Amino acid sequence: MFLARSIQEFREARSTLGGTLGLVPTMGALHAGHLSLAERARRDNQACALTIFVNPIQFGPSEDFATYPRYLEQDLQRCASAGVHLVFAPSMEEMYPPGFQSWVTVENLSRRWEGERRPGHFRGVATVVAKLLNVTQPNRAYFGEKDYQQLQVIHALVRDLNIPVEVVGCPTVREENGLAMSSRNVFLSPEQRQRAEIIYRALRRGQELVRSGERQVARLEEALRQVLAQEPELRLDYVAVVDAKTLEPLSQLNGIGRVLVAAYLGSVRLIDNAAIGPG
Ligand code: PAJ
Repeated sequence: MFLARSIQEFREARSTLGGTLGLVPTMGALHAGHLSLAERARRDNQACALTIFVNPIQFGPSEDFATYPRYLEQDLQRCASAGVHLVFAPSMEEMYPPGFQSWVTVENLSRRWEGERRPGHFRGVATVVAKLLNVTQPNRAYFGEKDYQQLQVIHALVRDLNIPVEVVGCPTVREENGLAMSSRNVFLSPEQRQRAEIIYRALRRGQELVRSGERQVARLEEALRQVLAQEPELRLDYVAVVDAKTLEPLSQLNGIGRVLVAAYLGSVRLIDNAAIGPG
């Protein structure tokens, strides 16, 4: 496995590997969710690259950039075990040298939900992903459905700017109790990890109701809220059943939608989502 710290090192190492390249952009603190993307990238391509960069411009001023978990040594071991060929872990200066002033904004998809709560977040994500795609020039890039709005933003970015890459969305990897894996889960106490299972239970309850014929979104959202309220330590931010592509709110579910949940356990913000629809 090769570790590139600069764009030039990455490109030199890339040129020694033939065939198609699959890219997995991450902010590190790698867990089984990230590694599932790397495995998929390796399966689909001759070479697999993973980027590790805690991207300052996607964090708000009161967010956790300073305390975001950073475990480079452990991450590199995990990449090597997962068969990643190339890791790109650039410095801040490499990505944002003095004079940096160009941004990418994906407008409508960034407005609601996470975008509303985290102003500037998706602008930071779209900008860094555009840069990482330009630097690494992969054939395919792999993103998790765990961050469903982010995945839709990236689909739009690549389509609208004609970036020559195939974006592949991959299913959410969960703990045994259903909690979606996330780098920020290290901040949950063992007890909070247990309590967090209620989110997955709520998502499944929504799916059950649709299977038994419910199509009214207000009633579905209310049923999810009721499940989530069973966990008094959980502070709900939003629950919404939305159009799976535009992420606009729905009043009636016709076909497959997406249910989005965001909530706090203590100071840890958790997001999750699932497909919801008949069948
Ligand atoms: P990060 O949170 O490190 O996630 C990197 C990738 O792993 C994202 O595509 C995310 O959706 C995926 N992922 C995270 N948890 C997952 C899980 N439990 N199952 C499956 N996939 C999972 O998302 C980011 O970093 C950043 O915003 C980034 C895209 C790298 C831009 O900075």
